[in-house]
Parts: sequence; C-alpha cells; structure tokens
Amino acid sequence: MKNYIVHDEWNIIEEGFHPAYNEVSESLFSIGNGRMGQRANFEEDYSGKSLSGSYLAGVYYPDKTRVGWWKNGYPEYFAKVINSINWIGLHIHVNGEILDLATCKVQRFQRKLDMKHGLLMRSFDVKLQNGVEIRVKSTRIFHLFQSETASLKYTIQVLNGQASLQVASYLEGDVVNRDSNYDEHFWNFISSGALDSQLNVTMKTKKTDFIVRADLVNSFILNTETLAPKQSTDGAYVSETIAIPLTPEDVFSIEKRVSMVTSQNHNEAELVAAGRANIEQVSALSFDELKNKQALAWGNFWNESDIEITADVASQQAIRFNIFQLYQTYTGEDSRLNIGPKGFTGEKYGGVTYWDTEAYCVPFYLATQPADVARNLLFYRYQHLDKAIENAEKLGFSNGAALYPMVTMNGEECHNEWEITFEEIHRNGAIAFAIYNYQRYTGDRSYVENYGLEVLIAISRFWAQRVNWSDEKEKYVILGVTGPNEYENNVNNNWYTNTVAGWCLKYTLESIETLKESDPTKQITLFEKVNFKEEEAVSWQHIIDHLYYPIDSEQGIFLQQDGYLDKEQVLVSDLPDKERPINQKWSWDRILRSCFIKQADVLQGLYFFEDQYDLDTIRRNYDFYEPRTVHESSLSPCVHAILASKLGNEAKAYEFYLRTARLDLDDYNNDTEDGLHITSMAGTWMSIVEGFAGMRVKNNTLSFQTFIPKTWDSYAFHVQFRGVKLFVRIKQHDFELINKSNQEINIIFNGEEISVKPRA
Ligand code: BGC
Repeated sequence: MKNYIVHDEWNIIEEGFHPAYNEVSESLFSIGNGRMGQRANFEEDYSGKSLSGSYLAGVYYPDKTRVGWWKNGYPEYFAKVINSINWIGLHIHVNGEILDLATCKVQRFQRKLDMKHGLLMRSFDVKLQNGVEIRVKSTRIFHLFQSETASLKYTIQVLNGQASLQVASYLEGDVVNRDSNYDEHFWNFISSGALDSQLNVTMKTKKTDFIVRADLVNSFILNTETLAPKQSTDGAYVSETIAIPLTPEDVFSIEKRVSMVTSQNHNEAELVAAGRANIEQVSALSFDELKNKQALAWGNFWNESDIEITADVASQQAIRFNIFQLYQTYTGEDSRLNIGPKGFTGEKYGGVTYWDTEAYCVPFYLATQPADVARNLLFYRYQHLDKAIENAEKLGFSNGAALYPMVTMNGEECHNEWEITFEEIHRNGAIAFAIYNYQRYTGDRSYVENYGLEVLIAISRFWAQRVNWSDEKEKYVILGVTGPNEYENNVNNNWYTNTVAGWCLKYTLESIETLKESDPTKQITLFEKVNFKEEEAVSWQHIIDHLYYPIDSEQGIFLQQDGYLDKEQVLVSDLPDKERPINQKWSWDRILRSCFIKQADVLQGLYFFEDQYDLDTIRRNYDFYEPRTVHESSLSPCVHAILASKLGNEAKAYEFYLRTARLDLDDYNNDTEDGLHITSMAGTWMSIVEGFAGMRVKNNTLSFQTFIPKTWDSYAFHVQFRGVKLFVRIKQHDFELINKSNQEINIIFNGEEISVKPRA
C-alpha cells in the first residue's frame, strides 16, 4: 500500500518526484477519451522505470499463444490492444545534454490529473548535470469533443543564465509491447512524410491489417514569435527540430496537435483526407480554446454523472477518480468497442473484454448515460453471437448452443488456461443477466425482442447441453466448472453457476412467452431463424424443475460447490498478514485445497438474484462466506459492500467501499503499475448507489433504501431513469430529491411512496 497521492477533491496530485513509483503514476495519471488513451508517459526522454503505452480502442494484434501444455480447444492467439504511434515525444537538449529526469537533479515536481476539466499536467524545475536549471510545464488533452484528436503544450524556461536549447518534436511508429510473447514487433511501416508544416506516419498491424495514420502539427513559439523548424523523416520516425538560445526572460513553448485515424473507422483511401480534416479542425483553435472545449465536454459529463461526498476528501477524490477513468475508457458511442479490465492504462489483460462488462459496468452506464450506451454494450455481444456458437461447437456442443469467450476482442476466445477457458462458463450467465438488467431498468422490451432473445436462446441451449442427469441425485448436475472464485477449479455444482444457468433457462422461456403474446409474427420468424422447436422448451422446463443446488441445511447456507465443507474451515482473520495476498505467497496447490475464496461467488449470486431470497438467507450466507473471502480480485469488495449495506452492516459496507474506491490510488494490491482496475471502478460506483443508497428497480419503480457513512456530511448522485433525470442527496438526517426533467416520477424512498415533481 502506498500513500503518496495528495488528497484533493477534483485532482490527482503527485507532489515531488517518486521515480520508484513512476510506473504506478503512469497508470494513475492515464488519460483518454473512449477512442484512444495513454499512460502518463513523459514527453521528454526518460531512462528510468517506465512502460510506454498509447492505445487505440479496437486496434489489436493476435499475439501467438504461449502455453506449456497445449490442450485441444485452446485459442491460437491472445488479442492485445497494442502500444501504437508515440505522438507526445520530444527530445530536448540543453547545452548539448539531454533532458532526462532520471539523470538530472529534480528540484521541484508536480504531476496533476485535473478530472474536472480532463487535463493531465506536469510542472518541474530541474538542474542538469551541466549546471543549467530549467523549468518545464506541460498540459495534455485527449479531446472528448473530437475523439480522433489530442493535443499538448510544453513550455520551457531556463532559470540561470543563457543556454542553447535544441528540441525535436516527433512521431515514432516503431513501438513495441513489453508483453509481446515472442518479442515480435506488431507493426509494419507503411509511409511517413513531412509536408506543409505537418508530419505524418502510417503504420499497419501485422496479421490484423489495421492501418493507423497519425498526423501531427507542431507550433514552436518563442515568446510571441512562431519559429520555423527543420523537418526530417527517417522511416517510421519523423521530426521537426529547432535550435535556439534561451535567456531567463524567454518562454519557449511547443504545441502539438495530433490526429489518429484508423482503417476501423475510415476507408483506407480516405485516411489522408480524414487526418487532414481533423488537423484543420483542431488547428483552428488556440490551445486555450481547446482547453475550454475540453472543460465544457467534461462539465457536461459531470453534470449528469458526478458523485459528491462532503467531509471526506479521500472518498470524494476516489469516487471521482473511478468515474473519470471509467468514462475515459468507454463513452458508449461505438458498439464495436468494449471495456477492458485495464482500459488504456496498461498491457495486462490486453484491453480485451471479460464478463466484467456485463456484471459490473452495465449498471453504471444504465444509470448515468442515455439507454443506448448500455444497449451498445449488449449489442457488442449480439454481434459476436455467431462466434460464440462456433466457440461452443469447437468444444463439442451443437444445435446453436453458444459459449461466449472468457476473454475476447472480436468474439473469438483468447483465454488459454483450461480451468478458465473451458470451465469458467458462468460468464454466459452474466451476459444473459445484463439483458435482463437492461430490460428491468429501462422498461424497453425491444432489445430483448429484436436481438436479446437470440442470445438468450443460444446461451440456454448451451446450459441445456452442459447439464447431465445424475441417477444418484435424481437431478440435473453441472460438473467440472470454475465459479467466479478462481481459487477452486474443476468443481462440481458450483452453486452460482447452477443458479445462473437455471435462471437463464427460466428467463428465456418467459421472454419467449411474452413475445408470443405481444408479437406472434416476430416470434414465429425468430423460431424459424434459430430453428427453435417447442420440444426444446419442454426439456428446458424439465431442467429448471430438476436442477440441483448444493446446500447445507444444518447451517442454512448454499454450498459454494459439492464438498466445500470437507475443506478445513479456517477464516481470513486466522491468516497471518505476511501470508497475504495468498496468490503471491502460497503455492497454487495450497490455494486450491484451502477454503479461501478469491472473490464473491455465492454472494455474487445473492446480489444478482436477491429478490428470490429472504433477508435471513442472505444474512446467513453473507456471515458464512464473507469471513472466508480474501478479495484478491478487485471485483469482490463492491459486491460485499452492497450486501453489507442491505444487511445494515454499515461499518463493513464503508470498509469495503474504501477498499474498492482507493484500490489504485493507494495501490492496495501492489499492482497498479500494470494498469488501473477499470472494470472494478464501476463496482465502486455501485457500492455507493446500490450499496449506501440501496437503489433498485422493482416492478418498474425506482426505489432507494439509504444510509450514510458516519464520517460523511452528505453524498449526492445523479441517475437517469426512463426519461427522468433525478438528483439525490442523502444527508445525515435529511435528504433532497430534485427532478431535473419535465416529467413527474413516483419512487419509493426508504419505504415510502414519493412523487417527485419536475423542478420548477
Ligand atoms: C477475476 C475475473 C475477472 C478478471 C478480469 C480475474 O482476476 O477473477 O473474475 O474477470 O480478473 O478482471
């Protein structure tokens, strides 16, 4: 755990340079706009610890799989959203010495992420080895208002005497990934040029053939005079260089405006024109105007999505950080894109899609953005349905059964550990649950009827083939699975998996029945399209009625899986601190045999399906499983925070909130340097809105069951619900509800029916 980030309500601040934590800071200060994003690498050269990372959403490379023991059914590749053209780079020489924070004396340093206005800033004073002292200030923007463009301004002053300054501002296309499995370079050079005071580089990914063209305009400004640089091109490296004497009275600045266009969004023949048009658009604006436009765009976002917490700066900073990073990763406009567990902040997890999106991110987008954003996330999976069917076929399933991949970029499975790839099949359930969640929240049945039902039928077919009849139990069982708790593999009858499977079959049948009534023609067309026979419905009903759910009746709990109680029952509180996290301190064998749970498993099911269980049942299970959970997945504390809130365990709920909210800011798990836990950031939002404020939708009605942590004066958030925009503020002994739309809404607030009239 680290504690070097200054607490502040709207900013993430590193005061003083922490070279040992530089990769952590590069993750924390990451900046993006949904279409592209970047770790907070320095513009100038840096020879210390650093992981370069500039990513373009959806631009990936199929890195050849590396595994010890190949199993049939393993994917050939792991898709990676890859490090792409470096547009921020500057080589700076002062009296012939290169500016490098690892080799000069850093006298003052501040790095700041201004979340309110969407800016990354840095300022520092350094003394070079040759004795020259300089001051640098930089501001970087990933334009939210024009997501194919970005800009930065970098200002240099010399503080003691005159110095000669040489600055090269460049584009570099020949970049690498640290995690390349076979040290391969992922890019081919296509072309570069330096024309009409514009630089450009075009690169193409190997195998996937994504073409990326970067166009860059530099402005070199000495005081108020614009200087003409020298241009040079050398393959994938193009630059503009300036050499000038600088006195302490001078201010020298470089402004860089870049456009990044890809063949994903433009025809190949149009890339040049698209890049030019983007550059024209951003060049027409001064840097201050760009900043203002950025502030306006982020202001609009915050007006709808902020969570305000008073009297607890650490919590306030953390929730804004989580919301900011999540939105930088996915803004919802493109249904081909999704939310990687690390977003644009690192290489780990490759920027690809996991069940995290459906289980954790969909609720955030449902409540804070117009419904089509969540719908785009659902549609992403609809577009991958054929691939999910192929994936299931490879494993021996038939008749249109679909197994969605554990990890994917384009719908194909990329994960290659058998206990996860073949066994962590519960992911299918989260995809189905998200369809239900969307329908429950928005009241819109059209998605289910037009697209969702096809997905549900295919997933249900998978469950129907994946169960088998046990003569001994006289029930259907699901054998050889891994539940959300990945510290158990190849178990039988994981309660969560069985529950989500049974629920999915039931929801699919109900949705079919509703469609039969509401639009019989559409239902017939659908049945023909997917070749659905009524006998299937009959066999699914039989499974629903006879599915086995492991329980321990003595303790009144659901059993995580068959035989869970055979394990030695010890508690996390019995574990010495020095043995945690167990995934770093224990052998895998010891972890598998222990009763310790990586992340919410039975409790994940109780969170999804809480309406089916009474409070005592939820409490008994929570009391049993919570003390055995080590939360070594970032996705775990939020589910516990929500259940603890429901059960009135406010202290625990708050403890879990803090753990999820400041996970990266305080680097709890010692892994922030790999990138941020973007998908669990949505869980932080859930901890407040679904946890503390107890927001639910039941019978088409929005309801809240609230409490407020003791140390807070108040907290407030915005939700959008069926055309109504609601602002909710919870105070220690009071609350405030503002209806920001022009339509009245009836809600249930702490058990009482309230009608909230539009604000006058
Ligand atoms: C968790 C998975 C999750 C993945 C990506 C793993 O550690 O166990 O549930 O999907 O991380 O966030």
